[in-house]
Amino acid sequence: MADYPVELERERTLFDGRKVLVRPIRAGDAAMEQDFVRHLSPDSRYARFMATLNELPANKLRYLTDVDYEHHLALVALVQHDGETVEVGSARYVLDPSGTSCEFAVTVDDAWQGSGIAGVLMFTLMDVARSRGIETMDGLVLASNHKMLKFARQLGFAQERVPDDPGTIRVFRKL
Ligand SMILES: CC(C)(COP(=O)(O)OP(=O)(O)OC[C@H]1O[C@@H](n2cnc3c(N)ncnc32)[C@H](O)[C@@H]1OP(=O)(O)O)[C@@H](O)C(=O)NCCC(=O)NCCS
Repeated sequence: MADYPVELERERTLFDGRKVLVRPIRAGDAAMEQDFVRHLSPDSRYARFMATLNELPANKLRYLTDVDYEHHLALVALVQHDGETVEVGSARYVLDPSGTSCEFAVTVDDAWQGSGIAGVLMFTLMDVARSRGIETMDGLVLASNHKMLKFARQLGFAQERVPDDPGTIRVFRKL
């Protein structure tokens, strides 16, 4: 497991001037990540996990938070609310066995969608992946997820159908 990449911790400014802290996730963030997922709307949860769930099962929660920062890098966007740190977005990539390509996923709290958090997270993730020599990034998106398909297009991702799965679109781009 690689060391916690502290150099990726950075305060970022959103479209309206609000600030968020973006940093790599830590194993100790499990409760915060679970709160983030519970707080998503059912539509957003379904769009992200492609399954109906109210919260993450323990093994999935551990998988998403206890990452090695090398094959699996996850970033969270955090704000302070009533003296507590609240997660309002997350993005991650998981490296393919080839080592040259990775798969991403991104999610923003419903109340924070349209704020710029998704872009901050994805640009940071793409920059890190590129700086580590990863050549391409791809993701699987529900064909009905127009918001994500539009956002991915704005980020320069091309789209293609997934063979034998008309409900899913693969988005991909060179880094
Ligand atoms: C998909 C998702 C991550 C996109 O996040 P988002 O918050 O909509 O994206 P952004 O924060 O970049 O906001 C984009 C909006 O800001 C607008 N925007 C862009 N630049 C701007 C600026 N400088 N000033 C003001 N607004 C701006 C865009 O026009 C866009 O608005 P529009 O949709 O009305 O055109 C989010 O909808 C989500 O979490 N969905 C549920 C989970 C999911 O589907 N994940 C994908 C699985 S891979």
